[in-house]
Amino acid sequence: MAFNYPKNQDYQDRLKAAECPDSTYKSSPPLVFHRAKGSYVYDIDGNTYLDFCMGFGSLGLGHNYPELVDSLQKFLDQKLQWQSMGDVYPHASKIHLIENILKHLPPKYKRVSLSLTGSDAIATAVKTSQISTKKHGFLAIKDCYHGVEFGALKLTHRSDFKEPFIKPKKDPDVIYINPHCSEAEITRSIQILKESEHGFAGVILEPVLGRGGLVPLDLKWVKTLTDLTHKHSGLVILDEILCGLGRCGKFSFTDEIDADLTCFGKNLGGGMPLSACVGTEAVMGAWPESKGEAIHTGTFFGHGMSCYTANQNMIIHDEQKLFSRALPYEKILRSRFEKALNPFKEHIKDIRSCGLWMNVEFIQDGFGVKLMDACREHGLIALVCGSSGQSISIIPPLNVKEEEIIDGAKRLALALSQLLGP
Ligand SMILES: Cc1ncc(COP(=O)(O)O)c(C=O)c1O
Repeated sequence: MAFNYPKNQDYQDRLKAAECPDSTYKSSPPLVFHRAKGSYVYDIDGNTYLDFCMGFGSLGLGHNYPELVDSLQKFLDQKLQWQSMGDVYPHASKIHLIENILKHLPPKYKRVSLSLTGSDAIATAVKTSQISTKKHGFLAIKDCYHGVEFGALKLTHRSDFKEPFIKPKKDPDVIYINPHCSEAEITRSIQILKESEHGFAGVILEPVLGRGGLVPLDLKWVKTLTDLTHKHSGLVILDEILCGLGRCGKFSFTDEIDADLTCFGKNLGGGMPLSACVGTEAVMGAWPESKGEAIHTGTFFGHGMSCYTANQNMIIHDEQKLFSRALPYEKILRSRFEKALNPFKEHIKDIRSCGLWMNVEFIQDGFGVKLMDACREHGLIALVCGSSGQSISIIPPLNVKEEEIIDGAKRLALALSQLLGP
């Protein structure tokens, strides 16, 4: 495949000259996206890529899904309001969306707070826990990722994200536990928080650790953790921002995990920035009634066009049973990729998957970055992950076709051959 990059290079150079250095990866070869359709994206020079990252898992329907595009066209044709006044005068679409989210969850979840990013939803859950328990200390899981805005950053484990911004505390308000630690260790950690100035507000967990390397938590261990949390009057917060809404073959893990709050983002918006923190009446009821100025809000919370798109996105997912499609397709994804990866098995430490989401962990630290670059040269978008950049993650759309999976596996094998030899 002979790719040309003149416009990509020009745009990337211009960005490099004008943007905050940390804001965009300056890739080699350069890539600046332009158009997109289904599972494929096209760069500014017209090169084609199979997109197995899908906006970091935020595009369950793939790019420019025709029915979703038609819905948006109708929205524009009717001159519906785009931006509203979320916490003062709501957009009708916000009400439709909130009711629709609750319809998909067990009945104990009664109230929703919408925001824009995954980090925002986590911040809402943290504030809700604090306002409800009057405590500030949390347990979290080693290698967890909950976002990098300040409300979420204190919970995220990776020290490189935190060190420049959060001074380590002598008396930490977050204690990280190993995902398989003993009951005694959980109790000891809760006790430390209870005896600290922070108190014990609860525990936060991703049912499947995402950026930490696609590690599904053992649900029996999670039950011990949630039971102990509740016994000590703490709240259980789920972060389903990546693993929920169909990625792992179900809408939510709340059927299996006894949580008080859960957070959604990514695939919720159908490509629009939208997130939600959902809770029980008991917990969400701790917020005061807004008297015209909500104490937790944002200019774009409840954004009309985003709520409309998100609701249409959910309707299409329901019609096409996409929230559960990932389970049967996981088998196809695994078998096709395992076959393609087999010649390189001495370089591979582990392959993990959950629904339509796969992570290939390599023995060599940093290999995921090299592979991500090589994949682009073979027309595949896949994302580096893991705490030492040792893995590559594959995140196709939830409506991916088998031939696209075959195509993706072939492109990954070509990129590996380029780096490791045939
Ligand atoms: C599990 C999880 N939680 C939270 C976040 C943060 O979401 P956002 O980047 O939208 O703030 C992410 C983002 O990747 C995530 O994977």
